[in-house]
Amino acid sequence: MITIGMAYYPEHWPRELWDEDADRMRALGVRTVRLAEFAWSRLEPREGQFDFAWLDDAIDVFTRRGMHVILSTPTNNGPMWLYHDHPETLQWGRDGRPTDTGIRGHRCIVSPVFRKYAGRIVEEMARHYAGRPEIVAWQIDNELENSHCTCPACRSAFRGWLREKYGTLEALNRAWGNAVWSGEYSDWDQIQPLLAPDCMPDWHNPSFMLDFERFGASRTTDYVTFQRDILRRYFPDAVITTNACFPVHMPDFHQEFAGLDVAAYDNYPPVELPEDPDKFYSNGFALDFVRGFQRKNFWILEQLGGPGGCWNPFSSTTPPGMLTGYALQAVAHGADLLCFFRWRSCCSGAESMGHGILDHDNRDNRRLRELADLFQRLEKLPELDQTTLTSQVAILYGADQEFALKNQRQSKKYDYWTQLQLFQEACTGLSVNVDVIQETEDLEGYRVVLVSSHIVIEPTLAGRLEAFAAKGGTVVLTSRSGVKDKTGCCVFGEPLPTVFRRLAGCIVPEYDPIGKGIQHIRAVRGESYQVSGWCDLLEPETADVWARYTDRFYAGTAAVTRNAFGDGAAYYVGAVGERAMYRTLLTEIFREQGIPYLTTLPRGVEVTTREGPGGWYRFYFNNTASGVHFPAEGELLSLRPFEVAIRTTQEVWV
Ligand code: GLA
Ligand code: ZN
Repeated sequence: MITIGMAYYPEHWPRELWDEDADRMRALGVRTVRLAEFAWSRLEPREGQFDFAWLDDAIDVFTRRGMHVILSTPTNNGPMWLYHDHPETLQWGRDGRPTDTGIRGHRCIVSPVFRKYAGRIVEEMARHYAGRPEIVAWQIDNELENSHCTCPACRSAFRGWLREKYGTLEALNRAWGNAVWSGEYSDWDQIQPLLAPDCMPDWHNPSFMLDFERFGASRTTDYVTFQRDILRRYFPDAVITTNACFPVHMPDFHQEFAGLDVAAYDNYPPVELPEDPDKFYSNGFALDFVRGFQRKNFWILEQLGGPGGCWNPFSSTTPPGMLTGYALQAVAHGADLLCFFRWRSCCSGAESMGHGILDHDNRDNRRLRELADLFQRLEKLPELDQTTLTSQVAILYGADQEFALKNQRQSKKYDYWTQLQLFQEACTGLSVNVDVIQETEDLEGYRVVLVSSHIVIEPTLAGRLEAFAAKGGTVVLTSRSGVKDKTGCCVFGEPLPTVFRRLAGCIVPEYDPIGKGIQHIRAVRGESYQVSGWCDLLEPETADVWARYTDRFYAGTAAVTRNAFGDGAAYYVGAVGERAMYRTLLTEIFREQGIPYLTTLPRGVEVTTREGPGGWYRFYFNNTASGVHFPAEGELLSLRPFEVAIRTTQEVWV
């Protein structure tokens, strides 16, 4: 059974409300509550004085009703006394100064002083609650980011990390190519993890930025491991995880989740869909990405429960069907637990206009009724959590690519995530499951591997892809592949795509980063597509031309190629195309590979399939604000805006 959970903050509400809230949640179908996130000041009101009585009481309120509890460690924000009495616990900003207190998240996860206090509250909680089987899981902290703190502890940790990695300053200067702009260091103390606030990351040496991000990501992972180890001593059997989001400074999620029990994500798809078709988005990509953290089903620790209003102007309200649609979309992509955020909108604080399920008036409302229907519907599918997604297609992701492409933008319209999303959307738009996996993973079991924008060469990848293609697999490479080595410096003396040249069967003698400019390509078979962002002007060596440019001085030059390689093939996509181009390309590849697909799905409808011993469940999700009709599986399917139809082996429409 898919587990239904709810984020609840007892400390925000009078005690008299708790029982009524728990009864209403129970009646709704909620079986698990998430508690204690951000509650440090109530759990340790003064240094060393702990108070668990109120949380014991809250836990009892729920467990008495047969419900389970997910506890969060409250360390996302220290209490005010901590920052005041121990300012070394504060995060420092890009201006090289401690941040102001009063919001949240302003603790330094690297600071040994913060670790001491965070470790203590986590341990006190864990010891206090050890042995209670109703506490089924722990969430570590909240929405951890890549640590970009610049406090003295972080500076010295960064220098230590570099020393460990490079041994000598000469080696570091060489690796980063510091002769440019007189950037050579003659003392470790000269290395500053500072980013002047008015300075774009693009002004920094990309090699420095790459290591700075890798270092920050390693600190985030280290912090997760630190808390996990404490929790594990007291909770040998509970699920230990943390709730990921996709912040500006991304950690290395695969590394972060490697030592945790399940991947978890806070799922807030856009309430307002972009009107501009150019503003492409695909929430399905985020979900496939999270499933790839551990290559198995995952949890949603915060699922959209109402329209936003935190930190930003209000979004419009969630139209009928949207909460259900997005929740089922998460399930369709492998979520086994859906914990909604939050039971009721807060009456105070920065989030008081961020909407939970109930509004401030506390009355039953449209959102509550919608979720009641959803939970009843899920109860009719009790075996869903025993099913998983099997994919024959993989998209490769690399934290290094993320870091490198974000910190040194390639053109005004070249974005790593958009590139990956275009491929992902094309797959689910053809009803083909797709995994998003780390670039170092084994490719066994896949038939198609999509490698977009592999700018920083993962040293084993070219060899692995060649072996994969030689055995019959299809590889797709794109522009900006093979540009840099692991140090973040450009490969010298070889035409692009360097290590992928043999596999691609073409070289890139010239490119045109057209940014927002528009170009066109025509496939050899006849169709034309608009392209933008980037144009590699390809020179085939062993490859055949799949499409050529039709405009500007390079009209007639190859834009997309296909190279037969062993029993398989490698495509090289030199330009960033419109969605239709990816659809055509993947249709061709799926046909070649004998992967079944549906071509009748209208734009915005995505299809994924979960399978298990009892059969399969196919989810048809209409991720648009309009009704759609299309033939599928011998019937004419009609889906209202955001509606999800679930078809099962038993031929039951739900
Ligand atoms: C994040 C946080 C929550 C809350 C929501 C609001 O996901 O984890 O604490 O602030 O955003 O939407
Ligand atoms: Zn710090």
